[in-house]
Amino acid sequence: MKLALIGLGNVGQGFLQILRDKSSELAVLQPQLVAVITRSRGTLWDPNGLDLELVYQFRQNLRLYPTTPTLQRDLDPLTLITTCNADVLIEASPSDFMTAQPALDYVYAALNSGLHAVLVNKGPIALDYHGLKHRAEEVGRKLYFEGTVMAGTPSIRLAQEALQGCEIKRFRGILNGTTNYILTQMENGMEYADALRRAQELGYAETDPTADVEGWDAAGKVIILTAALFGHSLTFDQMHVQGISQLTQADIQAAREAGERWKLIAEGTPEGGSVQPMRLPLDHPLANVPDAINAIQYTTDLLGDVTLIGAGAGRSQTGFAILSDLFAIHRHMSIL
Ligand code: HSE
Repeated sequence: MKLALIGLGNVGQGFLQILRDKSSELAVLQPQLVAVITRSRGTLWDPNGLDLELVYQFRQNLRLYPTTPTLQRDLDPLTLITTCNADVLIEASPSDFMTAQPALDYVYAALNSGLHAVLVNKGPIALDYHGLKHRAEEVGRKLYFEGTVMAGTPSIRLAQEALQGCEIKRFRGILNGTTNYILTQMENGMEYADALRRAQELGYAETDPTADVEGWDAAGKVIILTAALFGHSLTFDQMHVQGISQLTQADIQAAREAGERWKLIAEGTPEGGSVQPMRLPLDHPLANVPDAINAIQYTTDLLGDVTLIGAGAGRSQTGFAILSDLFAIHRHMSIL
């Protein structure tokens, strides 16, 4: 499986480490990284495969990667995507919820050139799920995006595959790791700004953490889920979105004294969606989800409530999401 990777931030690096460290678990995929594309650190293409160790070593400046007879550097990304002959494009650059560009063009170019697409970048799926899905079906390629919601915790695959046949009436959960981490640390007495800084250091926060703390990241995930599960085309301006930046230590204390806890709750139904901070009683299942852990509860007709709790952000946690999508593509290719 020849791979082209866009983005060498936290997630791209986490994925490279997994590729490097888990070669025996990945043997069935026979993965070979042939191209790496970054916005400011250069691009690399070697049809014979790049050296993972060296890509990781020179991740801050790919121009220092040693020359080989077949290596090409600094090609224009669209040219590279359409000519590199990879099987899968992995889009792991930062999420842009305004335009989703240039990632959106890159994913279309990949599908049009016969590549499957795996996204952890939320922008293209949040803004154009139906267009991308339609194109992928037209060209007979897979479009997977498990890592856009709850990192590698299989929130999307659970709903689309394991719960197939159930009617999902609603989902409700904690879908942003950064804010859940901040709220947990504030409960432990840490100041908001310190907790946010720590979340950035741990690789949970977006490049611009405003999207996290103001609720837009969780809202993007609601849009992705409502599109994928209910066929919706929800937009940000159709949702009530409120983050946690206004919550103070006094609010946290007041909730504690009432036997409650603040959580940023994301919700979606076939009718719409919302994101807002809510005070939950301590015996509520979502009240006890700590740190960057996320949770989602699907309300179904046949099973009642089904709840999934697991990692919501982080390098290896999101890197694993890419892996799970690659295995899904491999299963698909094996039955063709
Ligand atoms: N910034 C996101 C979060 C990353 O904190 O949940 C995972 O989508």
